[in-house]
Amino acid sequence: SVVILDFGSQFTRLITRRFRELGAYSVILPGGSSLERIAQEDPRGIVLSGGPNSVYDPQSPRPAPGVLDLPVPILGVCYGMQFLAHEAGGDVRRVGKREYGKADLTRYGGQLFAGIQGEFIAWMSHSDSVTRLPQGYEVVAETEDTPVAAIENPVTRRYGVQFHPEVVHTPKGGQLLANFLEICGVNRDWNAQHIVDELVEEVRAQVGGGRVLLAISGGVDSSTLGLLLARAIGDRLTAVFIDHGLLRLGEREQVEAALKPLGVNLITVDARKEFLGHLEGVSDPEQKRKIIGREFIRAFEREAREHGPFDFLAQGTLYPDVIESAGGLSADKSGAANIKSHHNVGGLPDDLQFRLVEPFRTLFKDEVREIAKLLGLPDQIRMRHPFPGPGLAIRCLGAITEEKLDILKRVDDIFISGLREFGLYDGCSQALAILTPIQSVGVMGDGRTYSYTAALRAVTTDDFMTAEWARLPYDFLATMSNRIVNQVHEVNRVVYDITGKPPATIEWE
Ligand code: XMP
Repeated sequence: SVVILDFGSQFTRLITRRFRELGAYSVILPGGSSLERIAQEDPRGIVLSGGPNSVYDPQSPRPAPGVLDLPVPILGVCYGMQFLAHEAGGDVRRVGKREYGKADLTRYGGQLFAGIQGEFIAWMSHSDSVTRLPQGYEVVAETEDTPVAAIENPVTRRYGVQFHPEVVHTPKGGQLLANFLEICGVNRDWNAQHIVDELVEEVRAQVGGGRVLLAISGGVDSSTLGLLLARAIGDRLTAVFIDHGLLRLGEREQVEAALKPLGVNLITVDARKEFLGHLEGVSDPEQKRKIIGREFIRAFEREAREHGPFDFLAQGTLYPDVIESAGGLSADKSGAANIKSHHNVGGLPDDLQFRLVEPFRTLFKDEVREIAKLLGLPDQIRMRHPFPGPGLAIRCLGAITEEKLDILKRVDDIFISGLREFGLYDGCSQALAILTPIQSVGVMGDGRTYSYTAALRAVTTDDFMTAEWARLPYDFLATMSNRIVNQVHEVNRVVYDITGKPPATIEWE
């Protein structure tokens, strides 16, 4: 593998993803990880990430003693390059102001740039610069403002770049990273087939003859996990899909049709009455979430007892949830939790203690989507927008009734189907319909109406922490509005949400 030592750059994860896209397995470890910890990953190369500190500050984070002496190639990025230079006896100083943005390399060469031709735009984000080279190193790239934009010591195989090759703003950065992999001589066999084979082996080894329970939500992670486990252990998997009545139109049937024919031992539980009963008269969003979370566990527990005993509980935990890092990277989760308490499966009672099976712990979401394709998950589910655990409950504002849910399902279906029909679905990160409690006056035919207002929302975002409202074409919105009021008689007004996040959130509750 290639081990990325994280010193706190916001881009660290991207380095890992780029290597994996290039077919080389790569992991992130905290910058100060011990030699033993690093050795566990069998590194063929090491990357020192960027970070917010200055190398001449004695408090700044550094790799453990001995790491720089490991007999494998090392690439320092930004702070990482400054660290390499500083440790080898060079000078690093604050020169002028912070350089931020695109820079054109005026000259480049050397092993990292082998085979790269033409213009090289590099993304810069730094205040310190290497001002004197250590012995054995040479400058292999420069820009107008940064005379030392890349360095290398071909004898010790130490390399450094002041810019960020991992971001999209460095278009030829991928080639540079591929060159580093070449220098490391690392295997480039990390592809979907390889991942599936490895995970199947791993699951078989972990589970042995045991039985595994899995909750299917209808999303890509749990569905793909169901397919993987079915392939690995067949009927020793029991997958439970709880229909809480808050799913989208036809979703349950779609999930069943996708998984059952591919050998997933799927049990669908019709818990609609139960959930709606407990939600009756509840209008507070947090209260809704709590009730749904609690009822979900209750229903799941019942199924576990009925179909058990089980030895393992499978979960679709992804790599970003478990990355050990320099900090900051997982802060988004806790930040979000202050605003809305997201519910997840968990907190099962003591007498239902399972060991966990989490085959996706090392995977990014796009890798899960890749293996999903190989395992035969239909694109409708594979490329689906995220859907919240509490489902339509938090899109049906105020107290929920069966009637309102039914209206919302039909509006949502028209909108989502429309996005697909007009080729706009994949361009949005998430799209949703909301049924507001507002009733207003309208005119239909010759008659006065007094009906609901539905809201449509579509956003684009990379991380769901901030988002922009999607600039959907007016004509498309007009078509949606017409279809909705014509087909859903309980709605006589459609509005489009043009608020970003912040200040709004993506969901309305
Ligand atoms: P907000 O509304 O906070 O949503 O901007 C950010 C992302 O989180 C999803 N979301 C939830 N997911 N349980 C979930 O599993 C929840 O209670 C929940 N609330 C919001 C939302 O759909 C968006 O993708």
